[in-house]
Amino acid sequence: MAGKQTVIVTGGSGFIGTNFVRLLVKSGGYRVVNLDALTYAANALSLVDLEGHPDYVFVKGSITDRELVSSLFAKYQPVGVFHLAAESHVDRSIVNAEDFVQTNVVGTYTMLESARAYWKGLSDEKKHSFRFLHVSTDEVFGSLGETGYFNEETPYAPNSPYSASKASSDHFVRAFHHTYGLPTIITNCSNNYGPYQFPEKMIPLMIMNALSGKPLPVYGDGMNVRDWLYVEDHCKAVKLAFEKGQPGDVYTIGGNNEQKNIDVVNQICVILDDIAPPVEIPQLREQGLKSYRELIRFVTDRPGHDRRYAIDSTRIRRELGWRAEVGFEAGLRRTIEWYLSNPDWVDRASGGSFGEWIQKNYAWRAEESK
Ligand code: NAD
Ligand code: DAU
Repeated sequence: MAGKQTVIVTGGSGFIGTNFVRLLVKSGGYRVVNLDALTYAANALSLVDLEGHPDYVFVKGSITDRELVSSLFAKYQPVGVFHLAAESHVDRSIVNAEDFVQTNVVGTYTMLESARAYWKGLSDEKKHSFRFLHVSTDEVFGSLGETGYFNEETPYAPNSPYSASKASSDHFVRAFHHTYGLPTIITNCSNNYGPYQFPEKMIPLMIMNALSGKPLPVYGDGMNVRDWLYVEDHCKAVKLAFEKGQPGDVYTIGGNNEQKNIDVVNQICVILDDIAPPVEIPQLREQGLKSYRELIRFVTDRPGHDRRYAIDSTRIRRELGWRAEVGFEAGLRRTIEWYLSNPDWVDRASGGSFGEWIQKNYAWRAEESK
């Protein structure tokens, strides 16, 4: 273990967490303690390759459990924390925000209090190098019009219960730095896509619905814009911010890749038509499907749907030398190929209570809007 730095990662079994934990462990420089409650959004198959790895420890538990969290700081003596655990889906927060308040607000507060108690007892040198990195979202800034970008100076204006809970957690992180001097860093990132994303989110949902011959539900007029970033590029940015950022720093991170939702769905269909044509899938051939595009349906809009997100990443590019490396067409193809090559992971993710949840809660998108 000599030379390895021990860190606590929360939410390491989720989408970004899975990619991030793997990046840290494979880098050879870190020993990772992954604290994750294994909610519906986690998948037991995501990190099987790391089971038994000397630089990987898994702890099942909640970030709201102060006793557990404090015991992990005491036992593992980490040099820092990467805080990713959260309830992450806007649609779910619209249906019921209780878990969002508990995990995103109370959980983040619990992580901060436990970190502060541990950090206070460190030697001056260790205190100085300790970092609490909070992974947040661009959604805290609200919605953009036709022009402009979010950056580190943009005022907060969260519009959904999800973004309100993330904004609250960001404010607690900022306050713990300002008031107590805890060395925190906040990253606010745009929409991620890539392997291991739970299929409630737009890109994997469209891929999996298409392959099952189900409708592809595009909210509203399909003209909402998101700035898509390949998940590995986000993970590299977070690692860099932890290693090179200064206490109190904030970085906005994005792919410089604005896409209208309808264009993303069309691109998914084009790639799928190419690599998994419906005529070669017996069930879809029987359905008479010639192209996945035939499955696109415009449905009633998400309530309060933010129109446009776009990020100005100048600061992290200039100060830390980060840049997005994976282009959208290549990243989307890689993502689709990953979902096609991992049927066991897909089966597990789409089983469980997810289908039931959709039936019960997605009343607004049951109707076609045009
Ligand atoms: P995810 O929903 O895929 O994963 C969340 C993980 O947190 C899961 O493994 C879940 O089991 C765990 N978790 C939930 N509640 C917990 C609790 N109380 N205690 C311990 N673990 C708990 O989310 P994601 O998309 O990987 O997002 C990770 C982080 O990045 C979140 O903080 C999110 O707000 C932020 N973020 C996500 C995106 C994106 O596009 N996905 C973009 C910017 C920021
Ligand atoms: O911007 C960062 C955020 O990106 C993260 O903080 C969130 O955790 C993450 O979930 C994501 O939020 P979005 O709401 O943008 O992601 P989602 O994949 O749910 O939706 C992307 C866009 O696609 C959005 O404009 C809504 C639309 N959409 C979504 C679904 C699920 C559809 O048109 N149809 C759908 O079925």
